[in-house]
Amino acid sequence: MDIFSIEGPVKLSGAITVNGSKNAALPIMAAAILAPGKSVLKAAPNLSDITVAGELLSQLGCKVARDASGAISIDAAELDNPVGDYEIVRKMRASICILGPLLARSGRAVVSMPGGCAIGYRPVDIHLRGLRRLGADIKLENGYIVAEAPRGLTGNEIFLGGPFGSTVLGTANVLMAAALAKGKTIIEAAACEPEIADLANCLNSMGAKISGIGSPRLTIDGVAELKGFDHTVIPDRIEAGTFMAAAAITKGEIHIKNCRPQDLMAVIDKLRQIGVIVEPENTGCTVARTGPVRPADITTQPFPGFPTDLQAQFMTLLALADGNSVVIEKIFPDRFMHVAELSRMAANLRKEGPTVIVSGVKKLIAAPVMASDLRASAALVLAALAAEGTTVINRVYHIDRGYEKIEQRLNPLGAEITRESV
Ligand code: EPU
Repeated sequence: MDIFSIEGPVKLSGAITVNGSKNAALPIMAAAILAPGKSVLKAAPNLSDITVAGELLSQLGCKVARDASGAISIDAAELDNPVGDYEIVRKMRASICILGPLLARSGRAVVSMPGGCAIGYRPVDIHLRGLRRLGADIKLENGYIVAEAPRGLTGNEIFLGGPFGSTVLGTANVLMAAALAKGKTIIEAAACEPEIADLANCLNSMGAKISGIGSPRLTIDGVAELKGFDHTVIPDRIEAGTFMAAAAITKGEIHIKNCRPQDLMAVIDKLRQIGVIVEPENTGCTVARTGPVRPADITTQPFPGFPTDLQAQFMTLLALADGNSVVIEKIFPDRFMHVAELSRMAANLRKEGPTVIVSGVKKLIAAPVMASDLRASAALVLAALAAEGTTVINRVYHIDRGYEKIEQRLNPLGAEITRESV
């Protein structure tokens, strides 16, 4: 198991390039199932979750390969085993997004029900409700979702809202299934996240007829068949936002390349309230801080609101603010594994239900800490860059799930991160 040893405090400066989006790439890889031919996905990051998604598709019968340029080819001509095995789904919850395309393509899908996860309870009831509205017969057997539609799916009006807003992967599942359903589907309360827009654009390139892309109302005119795609995935807005927080917390200046500021409006707005200078350009952004960190209140929301996937990183930044901030988590009310670890580094945090009151401190102090999930771990890296002393982060495989070789990319900017195998 690898650990990170991180020296601080450091000031980061220089340029860094954002990779393709993991959360856009995963559902798009599943979309390859819809076409009985070859699809090519370009710019997908080289992360363990992407490898797991490839393994899952291989188990279904697809031929999956990655070439030297990093492009992933998926040949879904034959799908002889429409089963998403527990052993893979338990490793990666996003495996659930094969359910819709498998059902649409094969008329049957058997996918393990995802289990618990470090960021809290994550049901899939809305996914199933949406697929049932398209005519699927769905039951739960021995921990597996068994979905059948032997005579195909039929378009319908579907409301995908839930207690915490829409569902990103639920929208992906229903959208992919509806693309091959007979007739028209209208998805109301669809997720508006850029990753869903990227999926919808990719589906249209395959021959789907989707309109309203990027809005909460998607209209899909079902088609009889789809062809493979050749698609370049969008830049990862969460990775970009993490690098922005890194510039801010180290009082540095980073030029972030391959980022789309339009995907990060809520984040950029918050950074400016905090006193950070953000200069967006067409395909990048420069982020710098020269003055103190000002306190700010953050409420996570579905896109275009402030993303839950940046809550932990921004809480870390606010831990060093000149005053008190309030962070409210409205998407995953239990996504606070980082609170106890940041407290070990001398952050002053008080959790009350889905709210954390952050009383700014003058400095963070290095400590041994434990990575718990992907974004909480990124927050610990940020804390360590700013903290006095040597922070040791255990279980960095969580970080590796979402950030490709983070130490090799931050060290040229002035970070001092060492990976060790223990
Ligand atoms: N929800 C339900 N029922 C459902 C589905 C969701 O009640 O059937 C609830 C969830 O429990 C949660 C809320 O709705 O409270 C939103 O969950 P959503 O379904 O949108 O999450 P997801 O699609 O499973 C994706 C990302 C997450 C990201 C969330 C929210 C991928 C692979 N995962 O998850 O990313 O936090 O959307 O934006 O795209 C991460 O990258 O670290 C990560 C966890």
